[in-house]
Amino acid sequence: MRSEAFSAEAISAAASADTLRLLTCGSVDDGKSTLIGRLLYDSQLLMEDQVAELESDSKKHGTAGDDIDFALLVDGLEAEREQGITIDVAYRFFATPRRRFIVADTPGHIQYTRNMATGASTADLAILLVDATKGVLTQTRRHALIVSLLGVREIVLAVNKMDLVDFDPQVFDQIVADFEAFAAQIAIDKITAIPISARHGDNISKGSDRTPNYAGPTLLEHLERVAPQNRAADTPLRMPVQWVCRPNQSFRGFAGPVVSGRVAVGDEIVAAASGRTSHIARILVGETERKSAANGESVMVTLTDEIDLSRGDVIAAKESRPQLSDQFAADIVWMDAEHLLPGRPYLLKSMARTVPVQVTELKYRTDVDTMEHNAAKVLELNEIGVVNLATAEPIAFDPYEENRDTGGFILIDRFTNHTVAAGAIRFALRRASNIHWQALDVDRAARARLKHQLPTVLWFTGLSGSGKSTVANLVEKRLYSRGRHTIVLDGDNVRHGLNRDLGFTDVDRVENIRRVAETAKLMTDAGLIVLVSFISPFRSERQLARELMPEGEFLEVFVDAPIDVCRTRDPKGLYARADAGEIKNFTGVDSPYEPPEAPDLRLDSAAEEPDALAERVIAHLESLGRLAAE
Ligand code: ADX
Repeated sequence: MRSEAFSAEAISAAASADTLRLLTCGSVDDGKSTLIGRLLYDSQLLMEDQVAELESDSKKHGTAGDDIDFALLVDGLEAEREQGITIDVAYRFFATPRRRFIVADTPGHIQYTRNMATGASTADLAILLVDATKGVLTQTRRHALIVSLLGVREIVLAVNKMDLVDFDPQVFDQIVADFEAFAAQIAIDKITAIPISARHGDNISKGSDRTPNYAGPTLLEHLERVAPQNRAADTPLRMPVQWVCRPNQSFRGFAGPVVSGRVAVGDEIVAAASGRTSHIARILVGETERKSAANGESVMVTLTDEIDLSRGDVIAAKESRPQLSDQFAADIVWMDAEHLLPGRPYLLKSMARTVPVQVTELKYRTDVDTMEHNAAKVLELNEIGVVNLATAEPIAFDPYEENRDTGGFILIDRFTNHTVAAGAIRFALRRASNIHWQALDVDRAARARLKHQLPTVLWFTGLSGSGKSTVANLVEKRLYSRGRHTIVLDGDNVRHGLNRDLGFTDVDRVENIRRVAETAKLMTDAGLIVLVSFISPFRSERQLARELMPEGEFLEVFVDAPIDVCRTRDPKGLYARADAGEIKNFTGVDSPYEPPEAPDLRLDSAAEEPDALAERVIAHLESLGRLAAE
């Protein structure tokens, strides 16, 4: 038997208590290939002809003098793999009489972090290689943090190349102390440090008489003994539906992988999205009818009831449903040369589906040397951070801490199709799960572009009878004739509908304006030019309205007329009634009006005709470039 590359599903299927999954990581040149080659060699998995070939190759090309260069063995297999198999991570297989091992081998220096993260998401244990001549490096810390984020709780600190430091126990102790000081700050349950020489075989499968101060196990002994992490079999059923098979009216099968737990005929299940329940009627694995199936297997199931269940949904154990949300906090490792931009749309691929997603907030970046949380605007290649995400549709998930198979995800660039990040969901941001800004590509800029205009709020303020509505209507007509998309919000109208619960106390006026300002904002989001005509007597609420809009989109138009002029006009007879005491809190009579101190435009409605004033508004918009075709 020899080592081979396997698919992730095959690995999953092979997993059991007598199998341990490992990941090796460390910096370039720290001896990873040599270590893997040595493990394969020492566990005698190589055929005799391979050994003979290796011995002669080592003499010809090797860098290990007369010794066998184990790196050649691994590199040879790598070249072989490059020819045909296109998975990111290859899995090597070896075994001792006590246990089987699957090593996630993550070659390639440039894509190293990416491949490492992929391997880490399924590993029970990580062997972190440190070069004894170099000590703990930033890269060592980075890899330790990534494996811990991706749920590996057990680390072997393999201090390699001990032969190059004369097996000096002080060098070893110092490296262990350095690493432990760092690891105290991250989620790792157990660290086992072993001084080794992968090249010479010290403390790999045999103990070494050159490390008399080291009383612990050899690497292989340790790997044989360590308890595998709780794997998917112990977790509740999660089966994403990849396709629905409906060859005729009487058969409706749901096909997909059992990514965690087990499924058996008669089990009560729930469809994660709808919450509808049913029972498993049949299980097919290929052509074979089965009573049950376990994680790692791809199955087709039928249910006892017709329930709402479609592609992308998840079949789950009834008593333990996954969560469903469209907003999350998550750890991510950024793996792309182009940095992460919050706000940019990406795709999120989780257990069952691929959905549009937006990083709504980059909460912080972790400095891997100090473990400090730093504010950041972007994440660069290999950087690690915590983000908030919003998916375009709710997805079923479990927190990564509970289930690595259903809480992990990757982010994909929509244009290059590259995997740009690996992530782990911490928790759903429930507070905002119903109302939130959808991560849609159709944003306010896109809507405005379609209308060929710049969304703008013209906020007309002034006393009752000053002429606000008259001027606003004339401005709207002019805009309309130029093909602009507009809407008028007028106090008299809005108070009949949206704000019919509000009167004219100060409190009610404040709320009146707040609602109108929010409505105006929504309408500018829709791409409209909004003409607001409200007395809006208080400066602070007009300021609030201004602050809701992006810079430059809010123009305050003060329709100014002396109160006596308004009183004379009195178009609705309200001043007369207020003076007679029939109306309380009438603006200008027994309720104040705070004129704008610095309006964008002041219209003297006692001096000029409404048409002329409307022209001035249009001219002002033009002078600001706000009527230029977009
Ligand atoms: S605001 O002060 O809250 O901005 P808004 O513009 O909505 O007032 O409403 C003003 C309109 O409501 C006036 O044009 C008038 O027709 C009517 N109105 C009725 N009672 C009052 C009042 N006490 N004060 C002002 N306007 C009133």
